[in-house]
Amino acid sequence: MSHEKNVCICRCEEVTEGEILRAIEEGARTVKGIKIRTQATMGLCQGRTCRRLIVNILSKHVDINDISKLEIGIRVPVRTIKIKNFIYDEGKGYE
Ligand code: FES
Repeated sequence: MSHEKNVCICRCEEVTEGEILRAIEEGARTVKGIKIRTQATMGLCQGRTCRRLIVNILSKHVDINDISKLEIGIRVPVRTIKIKNFIYDEGKGYE
C-alpha cells in the first residue's frame, strides 16, 4: 500500500488517507479500529463528514463479507432531561 496519499479524509482531526491505510496495515478492520489508531471521527462533527469515506476505504482493503461488521453505526449523544420540562402549566406553558 502506498502511504503517499495526502488526501485529507477527516478534516476535523486532519487525518489523511495514507494514515488510514497505515492503520489498516497495522490491523484495523473496523471504523473503531481506525478511530483508535488515528483519532479520525473524534473531531467536532463526530464523524458525520469522514465516517462514510473511512468505510469506503475500509471496504476496498478489508476482506469482509458482511459490511455491517465495519461498525458504521453512529451513536447519538445522550443527555438527561428533567420530567418537569414535559409538564404543561396553564399560564406558564412548558418550562
Ligand atoms: S471530519 Fe472527521 S470528525 Fe469531523
